[in-house]
Amino acid sequence: MRRTITLLLLAAAAAWAQDTCVECHESLEGDLQAPAKAWPNDVHRARGFGCADCHGGDPTAMDPEKAMSRAKGFRGAIRRTQIPNLCARCHSDPDLMHRYDPQQRVDQLAQYRTSIHGKRLAAGDENVATCVDCHSVHDIREVKDPLSPVYPLRIVVTCARCHADEKLMANYNLWATQPEDYKASVHWKALAERGDLSAPSCASCHGNHGATPPQVSSVAAVCGLCHALQEQFFDKSPHYQAFTDLGLSGCVVCHGNHRIEHPTDAMLSVEDGVCGKCHEADSPPGKTAAEIQGMLTKLAEELDRSRAVLDEARTAGIEVSEADVQWAQGREKLLKARVTVHSFDADAVRRDIDEGLKITAAVYQAGLDALKERDRRRLGLVFSLVAIAITIIGLWLAIRSREQRNASRKAAEG
Ligand code: HEC
Ligand code: HEC
Ligand code: HEC
Ligand code: HEC
Ligand code: HEC
Ligand code: HEC
Ligand code: HEC
Ligand code: HEC
Ligand code: HEC
Repeated sequence: MRRTITLLLLAAAAAWAQDTCVECHESLEGDLQAPAKAWPNDVHRARGFGCADCHGGDPTAMDPEKAMSRAKGFRGAIRRTQIPNLCARCHSDPDLMHRYDPQQRVDQLAQYRTSIHGKRLAAGDENVATCVDCHSVHDIREVKDPLSPVYPLRIVVTCARCHADEKLMANYNLWATQPEDYKASVHWKALAERGDLSAPSCASCHGNHGATPPQVSSVAAVCGLCHALQEQFFDKSPHYQAFTDLGLSGCVVCHGNHRIEHPTDAMLSVEDGVCGKCHEADSPPGKTAAEIQGMLTKLAEELDRSRAVLDEARTAGIEVSEADVQWAQGREKLLKARVTVHSFDADAVRRDIDEGLKITAAVYQAGLDALKERDRRRLGLVFSLVAIAITIIGLWLAIRSREQRNASRKAAEG
């Protein structure tokens, strides 16, 4: 509450205060005007800051000589290599930042210096990302604002400005395919199409300010932040040590890093799946792969088979909701087995599969019983239809013979 009031007062003060920098620059053209035009959206303006807080100078003087006087600390345009320190003057100052928000982090510069971007910039390379390449400048928004360039749905475009630039990336021996690959992934689909903000954007995996590719030993840990169960199985599996020894990076070996697709049981194929990349079909691991794939396929087929019977019964109007619930439990077992796959241990997978098969067998039986019930009802319907038909015919015959009798009586009387 106090924070809100403080912020409102600051904003009001900013609105009233005369800022000659804004006033004059609004009337200029091109690059000199653009900052003043963008400024109304800037979070710093909303917090009561002005142009002079970054550029120096005297924002009360209308005379440009005085306003932009070096004696008043005017710095003019800011060189790219100076940007991080400029922003950090406030953002690394806990006393200042915590006046605005006690939760505000003050480690952006420290983190940035550990990143490849930060290290390169410190060495004088101006092509890497500085604070304003990710946050923009003069219209810097709160990071949770959906229009902010670091908002999860927008960040791909922000990184892509450089990372999809083949010419630029070729200088560093890097591919420029990460944004395109990522946009073909399950993660982007979850984020963009389903609005699932728990799915990762570029920064979720690379860090906001410490952007480095996660190194070999930590790649599995990045994925494990969100896929904890798979990580637990993987860490105890024979692959953990084997991959570490070979310098291979965990999850990424089988799933890739940017273009991660929806996995299917076919991934376990020794002919054209991932296992076959390293194992021969007739080796013990190759056989394990085939065995696991066989079990998963079997349970999936049993689920389909019982689903078909239940659907048929429901269409016929038979109540099967209890079996539906059971079927869903069987499906859970299949999903569980696909997680247990990461132990790469056929016996462990079999435990989930066997539980699933037991359930699907019961569901299939329940479906068959429901279909029998349907047949019984159909037979009953046929019987009653026949009975009704017989009654109608009987009535018709009775009426007809009575009419005939009446007619012959009338004829006899006449
Ligand atoms: C009366 C008009 C006027 C006022 C007031 C004014 N400027 Fe300028 N500003 C200009 C003009 C014109 C230029 C371009 C010519 C030049 O570089 O001197 C300029 C250039 C700049 C530049 C770019 C310098 C460069 O080297 O490219 C910055 C940054 C700037 N102004 C910031 C400010 C700030 C901050 C204030 C307030 C403290 C301010 N200006 C006040 C007119 C003004
Ligand atoms: C939060 C800090 C900050 C504030 C506040 C700020 N600027 Fe800047 N400004 C920068 C930085 C950083 C650059 C250099 C951007 C770059 O290199 O991409 C810059 C660049 C400029 C330039 C040079 C543009 C060019 O393309 O040559 C002008 C002019 C300018 N600012 C004017 C202003 C005016 C006018 C205001 C107030 C409306 C303002 N700035 C407020 C940080 C700030
Ligand atoms: C490579 C892109 C990138 C660079 C470079 C970058 N940031 Fe950020 N910044 C982000 C992302 C992403 C977030 C988090 C957005 C979110 O939480 O959704 C963020 C968040 C922030 C926040 C909000 C508080 C926080 O830490 O979460 C501040 C303040 C901030 N950055 C300032 C800076 C400053 C100052 C610099 C330069 C030293 C900088 N950023 C450089 C991408 C970047
Ligand atoms: C004069 C001090 C000052 C300077 C210089 C400054 N900032 Fe800020 N900035 C602040 C304050 C204060 C806030 C508001 C924090 C809050 O209310 O949580 C803020 C907010 C932000 C936010 C939004 C944070 C959030 O939690 O959503 C971003 C992003 C940001 N600044 C980036 C930058 C960048 C990039 C630069 C350098 C170009 C910069 N700032 C320079 C003081 C400053
Ligand atoms: C202004 C351009 C620019 C922007 C924007 C940018 N980067 Fe970079 N980035 C670079 C350049 C140039 C390099 C190459 C530095 C090197 O490898 O020496 C790099 C390097 C990297 C690396 C290290 C690659 C390696 O292995 O050497 C990662 C990871 C990275 N960027 C992630 C990101 C992410 C994530 C974003 C968006 C949040 C982003 N970058 C935004 C220019 C940019
Ligand atoms: C799901 C996590 C994840 C997401 C999301 C992600 N990355 Fe990566 N990225 C990685 C991993 C892991 C590596 C390291 C690859 C390795 O060591 O095999 C990597 C490597 C990189 C590299 C180094 C060069 C390379 O291709 O190996 C760059 C540059 C990069 N990523 C940029 C990006 C950009 C830009 C985005 C967003 C469009 C992004 N990443 C999204 C996990 C991710
Ligand atoms: C910030 C959290 C987060 C991180 C980090 C993350 N993921 Fe994901 N992942 C998700 C979410 C959310 C989904 C979507 C789940 C869904 O489809 O319901 C998902 C989906 C997947 C899927 C598809 C699952 C399916 O059934 O279709 C795979 C495979 C996957 N991630 C692998 C990885 C790998 C490998 C990494 C590391 C390089 C990783 N993830 C990093 C959150 C994350
Ligand atoms: C040796 C190859 C391999 C490695 C290493 C691997 N996976 Fe998988 N993963 C698979 C296979 C095969 C499937 C498909 C199972 C199926 O659908 O039949 C799968 C499925 C998945 C799925 C979707 C199904 C589920 O489990 O919910 C996710 C998510 C996933 N893996 C995440 C990870 C993560 C995180 C890591 C690292 C801790 C990892 N994987 C390591 C082979 C691997
Ligand atoms: C990048 C190469 C690679 C891939 C891909 C791979 N493995 Fe392995 N796997 C190894 C290595 C290396 C070992 C340890 C050496 C050995 O026993 O062959 C190993 C060991 C195993 C073992 C233990 C063998 C034992 O006797 O202890 C099993 C089981 C196994 N892998 C199954 C699989 C399955 C199933 C897949 C596909 C989902 C798969 N592997 C994918 C490299 C791989």
